[in-house]
Amino acid sequence: MVTLGVARISDQGLHLIDQQLVAARRASNTQLLPRLSALLDQLGIERHQVGSVVVGRGPGSFTGVRIALATAKGMAQAAGCALVGVSTLDAIAFNAQISGVRGEVGVVADAMRGEVYPVRYRLTDQGVERCEADAVLKAPAAAERWRDAGLQLTGDGLAKHAALFSACGAPLPRELWNATGAGLVACAEAAWRGGGAHPFDARAHRPGAVLPVYTRLSDAEEAERARLAMPAPRNLVSGVQSASGARAGSMHARAAIDARQAVSGVAYRPLDADRVSSVAAIEAAVMSGDPWSEPMLASELSAAGRVWWVALAPEGADAAGESVPLDDLRVVGYAGCLVVDGEMQVLRVGVSPDMRRHGIARELLERCARDARDLGAARCSLEVRAGNASAQGLYRSLGLQAGGVRPRYYADGEDALIMAGPLPIGAHRAGGMSLRDQVSAAAANGDPDAAASVVGNARSMAAGSVEGPVRPLILAIESSCDETGAAVIDGEGTLLADVVASQVDFHARFGGVVPEIASRKHVEAICGVCEECLEQAGARLGQGPLAWADLDAVAVTYAPGLMGALVVGVAFAKGAAWAQGLPFIGVNHLEGHLHANKLGAADLRPPLVASLVSGGNTLLVEVRDWGDYRVLGETIDDAVGEAFDKVAKALGLGYPGGPVISRLAAQGNPDAIAFPRAMLHSGNLDFSLSGLKTAVTSYIGKEREVGRPLNVPDIAASFQQAVIDVQVAKALRALEETGATTFCLGGGVAANPALRAAYQQACDQRGVRLVLPPLSACGDHAGMIALVALERFRQGRFFGLDADAQARCDLERPY
Ligand code: KG4
Repeated sequence: MVTLGVARISDQGLHLIDQQLVAARRASNTQLLPRLSALLDQLGIERHQVGSVVVGRGPGSFTGVRIALATAKGMAQAAGCALVGVSTLDAIAFNAQISGVRGEVGVVADAMRGEVYPVRYRLTDQGVERCEADAVLKAPAAAERWRDAGLQLTGDGLAKHAALFSACGAPLPRELWNATGAGLVACAEAAWRGGGAHPFDARAHRPGAVLPVYTRLSDAEEAERARLAMPAPRNLVSGVQSASGARAGSMHARAAIDARQAVSGVAYRPLDADRVSSVAAIEAAVMSGDPWSEPMLASELSAAGRVWWVALAPEGADAAGESVPLDDLRVVGYAGCLVVDGEMQVLRVGVSPDMRRHGIARELLERCARDARDLGAARCSLEVRAGNASAQGLYRSLGLQAGGVRPRYYADGEDALIMAGPLPIGAHRAGGMSLRDQVSAAAANGDPDAAASVVGNARSMAAGSVEGPVRPLILAIESSCDETGAAVIDGEGTLLADVVASQVDFHARFGGVVPEIASRKHVEAICGVCEECLEQAGARLGQGPLAWADLDAVAVTYAPGLMGALVVGVAFAKGAAWAQGLPFIGVNHLEGHLHANKLGAADLRPPLVASLVSGGNTLLVEVRDWGDYRVLGETIDDAVGEAFDKVAKALGLGYPGGPVISRLAAQGNPDAIAFPRAMLHSGNLDFSLSGLKTAVTSYIGKEREVGRPLNVPDIAASFQQAVIDVQVAKALRALEETGATTFCLGGGVAANPALRAAYQQACDQRGVRLVLPPLSACGDHAGMIALVALERFRQGRFFGLDADAQARCDLERPY
């Protein structure tokens, strides 16, 4: 059910102007925006007049809630307005209240699988009082809980379970069973009246902070929790929408993110008085010569223009991986800065010796930098011991450069090197994930072509251009699998920013991508990733953050991929495009991988043959022109990356398997074990990898059975060689059959060094031009989606706001 409402605000409160209820039947992504747009048109309301978006956070259908939330986030973020999240169950109760219902009410929403979300309320003339927290229960158990309670019942759970609940009271009329626009608005108003922020307060109601209410873990997490006999996480069930629902909701979001940081091992907090003595202890241990004392550190807390952060970790390595209360974490690092005259001066950075090389100092400095920016800083400077090469390396990697020297600066007579540069805020976190800057990665990889084509142009623009960026400017979003990405491209094909938040850490313990976790992470990360992207793009143009209004189009991967992951990007992108009245472009993910090769060679032109090898695809494609593709062959079972991952799993090497297998293979003998070359002589260009995977796993099983120690490098090398032999042989045949003289590679497996080398050798021998994507552009990222989007923009090929995500898509008919 898609529920819409439009309200006007005045000093007296929120007044509903109109509302609509649309039976969307699993197609809410196609219905939501077109209906909303039509409703506003009908009411004569312009989109820029929208000052606040109110959205139901659930509980409800996971996908439905995510579509609504992602759309609302896109709308609010692009419009720069507030996003108020309210409980969908509360909205049902409020709807009953404003319809005149009074007394005890039980809301029973359908949770599928024979379960319901039951919450009890008290409705009075004054408003709605929530009497129970959110929960998900088997319908009979919920009915038992309310037996003989004499409630007035409502909610769509009654449709399936009317008989069960007949002992709990009498149903209200059916038209009161859904959340309505009126209910959502009333909920938001009550939160405001109860002391929450004004619904138009965009700083208090930040779109990035609103998250769905989940009352269940994903199935994979649930199984893992049961296996490890862990208690149910406290941060999951949130009955937070009482008086100041919206505010509590965003606090809940923050708590969830922080808890996850603790799970990944290290949490970060601003320094407080309780932790000053721990910081002093580390100072004393690691600062040779001139440590700051506890009173000196304590005085920093109240001094002006100071920013201090600490890193916290569980006692001992074993505790990592479990949710440890913050109070039980010990201080393992700290950084302190002084902001003066637009500059952040780094005062101290220290990390416990046993916690070095975990990126803690970098993270601390980035956090300081973000705060310093809020205090008006734009640049950073610091002194570092002339002999401390590793610290200097870290600062260089954060973009600082050595300037002058302060002779005999330290108490022991050592010189200080002065380092300075822009604020080190290249990578921060979104939804508990660190953000990778693909543009800098290409440059840092020493990939000269890629770096030049990606950043060179941007630099020259930043340095001299007075005309501003070359149009069009397009923001592209990628969310098809387990990476949330956003990129901005200009009219010359230069990527001004390309930011990725990888979820791989969250999936690793399950040995593969868990779709439900992927969807959840995209919802958490998408606002932060886009914000960072616009900020970086602006910085590369030598200005402040780009605004959504500066863009000419919004693009997104719409297929193929994980449905629940794709819908988040598609809904968000549509919401954002709508809010700014921008054209909306849908991009096929596989076409993105093909175009990533342009980052390896800007002059790349079809005709060519390309191999796409990733965790989900194995394809040989003839590219007759950009947009004109013929699939020459594909896998009939597993994808190549999947085979790498499964073999790694069988060897106990963790996920993802590709990188670790290729590292080990480099030390092994590729001829040690004769694994099958499936379909090498099949006469067509198809592939099969499941037989190879089975051959490797049964080899491992047999060796273990007879008690022989495994030679893991040899197994890795022999497996990898079996893959490469077939890949290269079929690629050569495809080149012969098509007569193409250029060959390209794409997808995560394209990062495999042995595969790249094998293609190089084969192509060199035959005079074929080989173009490879830079290593940083092999995996999923939004830069490649932006490259396709630019072509689509030039062709004037746009999608409507009724577009939806698609799990599958034929590359031969990508649109
Ligand atoms: O394209 P991608 O990032 O995601 C999709 O599947 O869409 O590809 C990820 C896959 C994983 O299966 C991973 O194991 C594999 O690419 N991979 C590699 C290497 N690096 C990543 N496979 C072989 N060798 C590598 N060096």
